[in-house]
Amino acid sequence: MIFDRVKELVAEIENSTVENKDQLEAFRLKYISKKGVVTELFDNLKNIAQEDRRAVGQELNTLKNLAQNRFQEFSAGIEAAGGQNQALQIDLTLPVPPNLQGSLHPLTIVRRRIIEIFERMGFNISYGPEIEKDWYNFSALNFADNHPAREMQDTFFISKSEGDVKDDVLLRTHTSNVQVRLMERQKPPIRSIMPGRVFRNEAISARAHCVFHQVEGLYVDKNVSFKDLKDTLYHFAKEMFGKDSKIRLRPSYFPFTEPSAEIDVSCFICKGKGCNVCKYTGWVEIAGSGMVDPNVLQNCGIDHEAYTGFAFGMGIERITMLRYGINDLRLFTENDVRFLRQFEGA
Ligand code: PHE
Repeated sequence: MIFDRVKELVAEIENSTVENKDQLEAFRLKYISKKGVVTELFDNLKNIAQEDRRAVGQELNTLKNLAQNRFQEFSAGIEAAGGQNQALQIDLTLPVPPNLQGSLHPLTIVRRRIIEIFERMGFNISYGPEIEKDWYNFSALNFADNHPAREMQDTFFISKSEGDVKDDVLLRTHTSNVQVRLMERQKPPIRSIMPGRVFRNEAISARAHCVFHQVEGLYVDKNVSFKDLKDTLYHFAKEMFGKDSKIRLRPSYFPFTEPSAEIDVSCFICKGKGCNVCKYTGWVEIAGSGMVDPNVLQNCGIDHEAYTGFAFGMGIERITMLRYGINDLRLFTENDVRFLRQFEGA
């Protein structure tokens, strides 16, 4: 009988919870104090038959220890919670803290979009080195040894050769080096775009940086014409900036294309009416382009009598700035999460 009572009390103590100081005091009075149930059972011990007294005494000691341990636990918990049991203080109705996810860099978003548009037109993707020989960056592209354009590009040189300038080693100033590498190793037809990082020795400001990104395009085959260039870039502009976009070609000069043209797209912010993005001209420049100079084809071992080609090069930063209305190039490299988070889901 007494054993059943002890068992009952053990279960009761094990299942009990205490939420505040009052309940803690009630627990103490019931199981620990001199007037509590456990003391009462100890007092009763003298009425137990002599032969059972030892076993019952052991059971009672276990019960007493259990009660004391539980009391210690409860009071420590309530102490730590400043009078409240911590476990029970959690508010299950509170919203879950947001699980922050990374997002794509705006330059990545735009690079991927450019690639996608040209891939659909049948262009494949090629890559080339960032550390390059003069030959690929300049000489093969028809820059004469003392051509002023070499200086115009603010080149970072890595090593100057003792002999031939063609062996100088530098950081590529444009992605046009990949055109040369491609034409040297592949016979036409060639239809490829070449995204990559380029370097120029410019002081960093809102409008200039020493590291930026370009996407080069090259199409060489029989009968490639200037109209193909125009149509390709017109289609690109409509896909990239909206179907009402127009393009405009302005005569320009690059040593590796002849004729050469600067490509402008109608300002998609003001729709050509004039705003501060297009500096009130209605047009924004997006690329340099032209027909591949026969000298370049020849330098790369392609028969310039049989084949013609067009090439273009566009700045990814520039297109990204136009597309998202970003007015400072430095934002792209500062990794400020307040800037980057704005492109979540873009
Ligand atoms: N490489 C030129 C630049 O960086 C752009 C360009 C590429 C122009 C291909 C014509 C043809 O300015």
